[in-house]
Amino acid sequence: MKILLATTNKGKINEIKELLADLDLEILTLIDDFPSLKLPEEGVLSFRFNALGKAGFAAINTGIMAVADDSGLEVEALVGQPGIRSARYARVGATDDENNTKLLKVLKDIPEGQRRARFRCVIGTAQPSGRDERGFEGTLYGTITTAPRGEGGFGYDPIFEIPETGKTLAEMTAQEKNEISHRGEALLELKEYLKELLNEA
Ligand code: IMP
Repeated sequence: MKILLATTNKGKINEIKELLADLDLEILTLIDDFPSLKLPEEGVLSFRFNALGKAGFAAINTGIMAVADDSGLEVEALVGQPGIRSARYARVGATDDENNTKLLKVLKDIPEGQRRARFRCVIGTAQPSGRDERGFEGTLYGTITTAPRGEGGFGYDPIFEIPETGKTLAEMTAQEKNEISHRGEALLELKEYLKELLNEA
């Protein structure tokens, strides 16, 4: 069975390939196998809509079952912002530092105890027939710190603390983060679904 990973993010590609390595799958990527196929811009409706939209677009245009994801940070005191705008919170094309600085500034008067937030990830799959779309979700709860800590990870990791550990995600190893992360949880569900499809094939 072939699947196409509809993302150009090399970090995500490596993570997904590693997790699915023990399945009997041929994993194709946009970068290696369909370099001229450009995914549409992400919309503003929901993580699920974006993930399924990207997977559907890739599957229909290539004739191969496709997998795509969307993820972001929702802050309770901001009623879910930055949400689907997480990557471009400070501005379109913002660096991680710019986004983190903006979020800390917006939250500067929010006291400890009211800085709860969650990461969400939705992984979507689509068939070339346009039927049988699936969405797999993962969530990771934590709090936003008042200053960045740690060098690992990416994005909002240096300002996202897991209260039970006292560490930000950027202070954890990649393995520690993957074991609890929103993306790890959604990927495990994807894996179960792919196993079912392989058993049926
Ligand atoms: P996308 O899923 O590639 O659209 O990325 C969404 C944005 O959400 C990223 O650019 C990060 O800013 C943020 N984000 C998603 N997952 C994580 C994570 O695991 N750690 C830190 N930031 C994340």
